[in-house]
Amino acid sequence: MDVIKTLAAMRSARIRLKEPVGLVPTMGFLHDGHLSLVRRARAENASVVVSVFVNPTQFGPSEDLARYPRDLPRDLALLSGEETDIVFVPDAAELYPTGFATWVAVEKITERLEGSARPGHFRGVATVCTKLFNIVRPTHAYFGQKDAQQALVISRLAADLNMGIKIITLPTVRAPDGLALSSRNAYLSTEERQAATILCRALHLAEEKWRTGEFRAATLRRKMVDLIKTEPLARIDYISIADSKTLAELDIVGAPALVSLAVYIGKTRLIDNIILV
Ligand code: PAJ
Repeated sequence: MDVIKTLAAMRSARIRLKEPVGLVPTMGFLHDGHLSLVRRARAENASVVVSVFVNPTQFGPSEDLARYPRDLPRDLALLSGEETDIVFVPDAAELYPTGFATWVAVEKITERLEGSARPGHFRGVATVCTKLFNIVRPTHAYFGQKDAQQALVISRLAADLNMGIKIITLPTVRAPDGLALSSRNAYLSTEERQAATILCRALHLAEEKWRTGEFRAATLRRKMVDLIKTEPLARIDYISIADSKTLAELDIVGAPALVSLAVYIGKTRLIDNIILV
């Protein structure tokens, strides 16, 4: 496994990689959710590149960029256990040099949910992914359903800009109690970690009510709000029940619908989602 830090070294290593090439973009502090993407990339490609880069441009000014968890030695140990060929760990100064002025904006589907709660977030995500795609030139790139809107944005981006890269979205990996794995779970105290299961419990409640014939989005949302309000450490940012492709909010919920939410547990903002099919 090669650990590559510069653009020049990445470009010359790329020439030697066997095709097809799978890319897994990450911000590090890896967990089994990330590793599920790496494993799929390993199974489907002759070469696997994993990028580890905490992308400053996708964080808002009052967000957690400075304290985002980082542990490169641990990440490298995990990745070498998955037969990764290259770990690309670029430097922010090299990806965003003085004078950097070009941004990639995906419209419409970025207007809602994470896009409206975190202005500028998807501009940063779309821009860094475009850069990583141009540098690594993968055949396939792997993303998690955990960040459902991000996966839609990247699929839209790759199609709209004719990148010729197949975007593959894989299921959310969860802890045994249902909490979606996330690097940000590291922020949670023991008490908050327990409280955090309220996100997946609210999603399951909506799913169960929908399966037993409740199709009114307002009612499903109210039931989720009522459940989350029973958890004193939780504060709702948004709850959405939307068309799973356009992300337009639904009044009457037919399949496939994306139920997604963002909830603060103490100071930590967590997201999760489920698709009703
Ligand atoms: P990060 O949060 O590190 O996630 C990297 C990839 O892992 C994303 O595609 C994300 O959806 C996926 N992932 C995270 N938790 C998961 C889980 N529990 N199950 C399955 N997949 C999971 O998302 C980013 O980084 C960044 O925005 C990035 C795309 C790297 C651009 O900077």
